[in-house]
Amino acid sequence: MFAAHPSPWHSHALQRLADGPAEPLVPPSRMEWTPHRGHGPGAELLGTRLHGKRALELGCGPGHNAAHLSHHHGVQATAIDLVGLQIRRARSHYGHIPHLTFSAGHALHYLHAAQEPFDAIYSVFGAIGLVAPELLLPAAADCLTDRGLLAFAAPHPRRRGGTPEPGVSPSRDLLTLPDRSRLPIVRWDLEATAWSHHLHRAGLRQITSQTVSHPGGSRRPTTLLITARKT
Ligand SMILES: C[S@@+](CC[C@H](N)C(=O)[O-])C[C@H]1O[C@@H](n2cnc3c(N)ncnc32)[C@H](O)[C@@H]1O
Repeated sequence: MFAAHPSPWHSHALQRLADGPAEPLVPPSRMEWTPHRGHGPGAELLGTRLHGKRALELGCGPGHNAAHLSHHHGVQATAIDLVGLQIRRARSHYGHIPHLTFSAGHALHYLHAAQEPFDAIYSVFGAIGLVAPELLLPAAADCLTDRGLLAFAAPHPRRRGGTPEPGVSPSRDLLTLPDRSRLPIVRWDLEATAWSHHLHRAGLRQITSQTVSHPGGSRRPTTLLITARKT
């Protein structure tokens, strides 16, 4: 006998929406790549001339970053999320913004079906790191224009201190829900060198990585930020 379980990400969205219906929001004035608002780089990580560019977000959650890019930089943004409830929430917040499209689906499936290339593909603690990189990164590379940029933020592999196991395999992690309960997820919790290996194999070059640390006194690393280009 098998029990049916919704995805942990669905449970997360369900609890968020239990607080009440999502309201239309003013897009944030800044793009955030880390869990600490106002800390680390902003939209400039994607380039300085963004107006009219086509961008795709993989795992957009409530859509704040795509809304920022569309509203403040004139980006033609498409933002996707695995969980339909998140897309409903994102549309309630930002459905009024022109040139911004929200779509429900698995990042890999969306990339396989995409017909027009994107100037930038990005993920902020989203699908990159939650889907096998040997599948997702080549699919993303195929959907980039020549010189297109892939950029992503992932939880830093040394965020809990210590040294993680070197390697390229996924590990178990726990997703903390709004009610503080925790559900198991699988995460590719990789060091920059392992990401670099995957990106290189996907045909991407000019790979950069940076560590963003906690803005408080501890200075522990929180976020690994990576960019790569199709040349
Ligand atoms: C930690 S949240 C980050 C949301 C958003 N990027 C932000 O910064 O607020 C991760 C999101 O990735 C989505 N996600 C997980 N796996 C995915 C996949 N395979 N394809 C698309 N989205 C996915 C989840 O549903 C969730 O909304």
